[in-house]
Amino acid sequence: MNQYQATLVDEQATIALGSTLANIIKNELNHGVVAYLNGDLGAGKTTLTRGFVQGMGHSGHVKSPTYTLVEPYELTPWQVYHFDLYRLADPEELEYMGIRDYFNETSCSFIEWPERGGGMIPSADFIINLSYCGEHREVEVVAQSALGDKLVNQLKA
Ligand SMILES: Nc1ncnc2c1ncn2[C@@H]1O[C@H](COP(=O)(O)OP(=O)(O)O)[C@@H](O)[C@H]1O
Ligand SMILES: [Mg+2]
Repeated sequence: MNQYQATLVDEQATIALGSTLANIIKNELNHGVVAYLNGDLGAGKTTLTRGFVQGMGHSGHVKSPTYTLVEPYELTPWQVYHFDLYRLADPEELEYMGIRDYFNETSCSFIEWPERGGGMIPSADFIINLSYCGEHREVEVVAQSALGDKLVNQLKA
């Protein structure tokens, strides 16, 4: 299993990792990705995604899509989608929102609470596991595809 592991000492470190992931995707992979984010409430999933979205070129606010399920960012040539499936009542809802259209070679999807998507979302290129570690956070980025492998290798480099 190819994975990168680190301690994130504060919120800034979590944001910085999101921004590093954005730089790797833009400069090294040049390809869309699907990322799952796992971790308890408050572990830093949205914070890390905020760093990613901003690293992909968004300069405004990043709000949590808790009630809307997805927040889209058109960051030409990239489409960045921040999903939070915490409040998804039924995976069928994803069918109604045209879930399949969200995933392609230029779209980057970061998905909080992916297990609530049932079988409706594609498999991940990499999984980000966040956990509490005293005042800090621990993070693991685990590769799940050839693309994810490349990304993890870049993180470790
Ligand atoms: N590395 C870190 N160390 C300590 N606190 C952090 C760290 N990263 C984020 N935080 C804080 O933890 C909280 C994470 O909230 P959020 O990102 O919304 O979590 P989640 O989306 O996983 O529920 C925020 O209050 C943020 O400031
Ligand atoms: Mg969140």
